[in-house]
Amino acid sequence: METQAPTAQFTVIPNRRPATDEERWIAMEDPVFGKVFTDHMARATWREEDGWADRRIVPLAPIPMHPGAAVLHYAQQAFEGLKAYRWEDGSIRLFRPEANAARLASSCRRMALPEVSEEDFLAAVEALVEADQNWVAGAEGASLYLRPLVIATEASLLVQPAAEVDFIVTASPVGDYLSNGDVGVSIWVSRGYHRANAGGTGDTKTAGNYAASMLPQKEAKEHGCGQVLFLDAREDTYVEELGGMNLVAVRADGSILTPRLSGTILPGVTRDSILTLLRDEGRTVEERDIALTELVEGIESGDIAELFAVGTAAVVTPIARLVSDDLDVSLPERSEEDGPSVATAMRALLTDIQYGRAEDRHGWTREVVPAPEG
Ligand SMILES: Cc1ncc(COP(=O)(O)O)c(C=O)c1O
Repeated sequence: METQAPTAQFTVIPNRRPATDEERWIAMEDPVFGKVFTDHMARATWREEDGWADRRIVPLAPIPMHPGAAVLHYAQQAFEGLKAYRWEDGSIRLFRPEANAARLASSCRRMALPEVSEEDFLAAVEALVEADQNWVAGAEGASLYLRPLVIATEASLLVQPAAEVDFIVTASPVGDYLSNGDVGVSIWVSRGYHRANAGGTGDTKTAGNYAASMLPQKEAKEHGCGQVLFLDAREDTYVEELGGMNLVAVRADGSILTPRLSGTILPGVTRDSILTLLRDEGRTVEERDIALTELVEGIESGDIAELFAVGTAAVVTPIARLVSDDLDVSLPERSEEDGPSVATAMRALLTDIQYGRAEDRHGWTREVVPAPEG
């Protein structure tokens, strides 16, 4: 085994057969979210006795795994999602990667997995973006979606924390994902299924949460809805979050209402960024329990003017309608005289910061590849 430097350094083993320029251009033209992958991946391994080692950037390839690997049986894993953006000057920046590193460490603790240090997380992601920088398009809405993943690879059917674990990061060029512009999506309010319970893994980014959300997501589709909204499991009363996005409401008086981070909701990086930008504008932001009935009555009375969902993949998605077995309520349609919605304005402001077109007052962007000279 190669000796590893004590600091996190990912040795690059270049892909000898990267995609040709033409293959890459075709793949990047209109990529389906998460279906196209770059030439490399980051990888490190952990053994109980040695800790993390073998930090590498290697050609993207299938990962051979024993059929008894713990992750396949007991879903002992955690993951993340963040993006790199190409600025107009040609440089490439990550958006708040430290926040994703902290969330992955927290997810790993909950899943009894070894933590990936912030240093290793940033080193892996940065080395991968650097190696695959020609996969970062400059087009509006385009970015490189990074998927860090920690999995229990030990071949063991014992229900106990694995002694062998892999850390992997893949990268996917993505376009402007399903924002639905100002039209908005219809949301299915799941009544029979819940996403998370107190003491469970609702605030953890781990596979089981998503596996359990697929049936309600299918139900949503069957009712003509694009996403599911989950209620709390204890009282079946309070709105929590969507399958992969946090929820924000705008009141008629311009103040903001959003479910508090109760422990059963994923603390979204986009949620935190948008709430910060809304507070910067001087808006009141209330984070508290919100009953579905309060939301519906607010929409019907005109007290709630807008609902939108926020997350890394789609940034900001306006919600047009809430639907369930006993419910069908539409948000008011906007006319041109109304001016841009809060959702549209926030989407524009956040993406302007991400692409370097607006001042980064909070120091959220992190340069990975500098602008070419001259
Ligand atoms: C369940 C869930 N909620 C919220 C979010 C939004 O989080 P972020 O803004 O960090 O992407 C995600 C996406 O990661 C998610 O999967």
